[in-house]
Amino acid sequence: MSNYTVRDINLHQQGRLKIDWVRVHMPVLNAIREEFEREKPFQGLRIALSIHLEAKTAYLAEVLRAGGADVSVTGSNPLSTQDDVAAALAYAGMQVYAWYNASPQEYNDHLHLTLGNRPQIVIDDGGDLVHLLHTELQHQAGEVIGGAEETTTGVLRLRALEKAGKLLFPMIAVNDARCKYLFDNRYGTGESAWSGILRTTNLVVAGKVAVVMGYGWCGKGVAMRARGLGANVIVCEVDPVKAVEAYMDGYRVMHSVEAAALGDIFVTVTGCRDLLREKHFRRMKDGAIMANAGHFDVEINIPELEKVSVSRRTVRNNIEEFLLPDGRRLYLLAEGRLVNLAAGDGHPAEIMDMSFALQALAALHIARYDGKMDRKVYYVAHDIDQRVAELKLKSLGIDIDRLSNEQFSYINDWQCE
Ligand SMILES: NC(=O)c1ccc[n+]([C@@H]2O[C@H](COP(=O)([O-])OP(=O)(O)OC[C@H]3O[C@@H](n4cnc5c(N)ncnc54)[C@H](O)[C@@H]3O)[C@@H](O)[C@H]2O)c1
Repeated sequence: MSNYTVRDINLHQQGRLKIDWVRVHMPVLNAIREEFEREKPFQGLRIALSIHLEAKTAYLAEVLRAGGADVSVTGSNPLSTQDDVAAALAYAGMQVYAWYNASPQEYNDHLHLTLGNRPQIVIDDGGDLVHLLHTELQHQAGEVIGGAEETTTGVLRLRALEKAGKLLFPMIAVNDARCKYLFDNRYGTGESAWSGILRTTNLVVAGKVAVVMGYGWCGKGVAMRARGLGANVIVCEVDPVKAVEAYMDGYRVMHSVEAAALGDIFVTVTGCRDLLREKHFRRMKDGAIMANAGHFDVEINIPELEKVSVSRRTVRNNIEEFLLPDGRRLYLLAEGRLVNLAAGDGHPAEIMDMSFALQALAALHIARYDGKMDRKVYYVAHDIDQRVAELKLKSLGIDIDRLSNEQFSYINDWQCE
């Protein structure tokens, strides 16, 4: 065992069972692990991860380690770390610095401890490691050969850094790969956000009005699954094209203030802030439930919710009741943090199999092209995206057609008729 800061190392067996369960359902990552075990592409390299520390991410960390990397791990959200999983990694000798419900100070300490391993590759989910390496720990940035970012919000921050000319090392936007957003953001968030809401509330969705705020890749999935559960779905957007798309997909589309009075369950999923605020809370029905599936806990303005309320109390695990002066009760799930992770196990393993295969191959790309990449935000190389999809199809036993030479020429040669 090496350095770790986990809540209780004695939880390791339970955590190991969780990791074993997801491993069986991650055939793409397993194929990559076999290759890494043979070739040890990360031998001599230190990799730091800031990720939602649960079984699937733990398995990604183990796959990188199987490739020869010296790995240090922390969480990417204080409420998504699972203490038993963190203990299992620590017990297996990995450097782990994370525990559930870390205070802001502890969370920050954990990030620092993780970067204390002086990583050359960083894998971020939301940009916390990269942020530190561009601020307080900028003196370490020169040691970093590159990194990969998992989510939309982190990529937005990276692009802002790049635009300001301040990005200090190359980063790969794993989020923007087709094998990521088409499956993880859409089907993963769609399923796991509702799984988190259902297991937390144990209430019926059928017949209720679900308001989905944001119709990006995640929002599409959340709306689709809400409809599948029998909800009457309203979508709120700021992008007129997405709003038309939602309308054509068969949802009601309206201004958020109008929707506030109609919704039974609200799900924010934009990466923006203040989706729900005082003007909405004042119109909401008694019993309205609010959950967030966006990366940060700023989509529901909790200080304003407190301001319009006369009391706040926990009424069930991960459910807080806010009592308004006229007696209406509004319910907030998981403190407005990512409901699928803070009140659930996150995305299904089969979904994360593809996302983390991309992460593993992005890390491999960085190791291979050390010194040849610029201080830019890169898209995941096309062949990596294709490879992950091919491995996924193979694991499903699905064969697909390939273009014949004639077909290839027909669609690529301007002279072909
Ligand atoms: N819960 C999860 O497990 C999970 C998984 C992936 C991504 N995410 C996070 O979810 C968020 C959304 O990701 P995405 O991939 O759907 O992004 P996206 O860019 O595809 O979509 C975001 C949508 O929100 C809309 N939007 C922005 N501000 C708005 C506002 N004020 N009101 C209404 N609509 C607004 C945008 O127009 C856009 O259509 C990000 O924070 C991302 O990091 C969460």
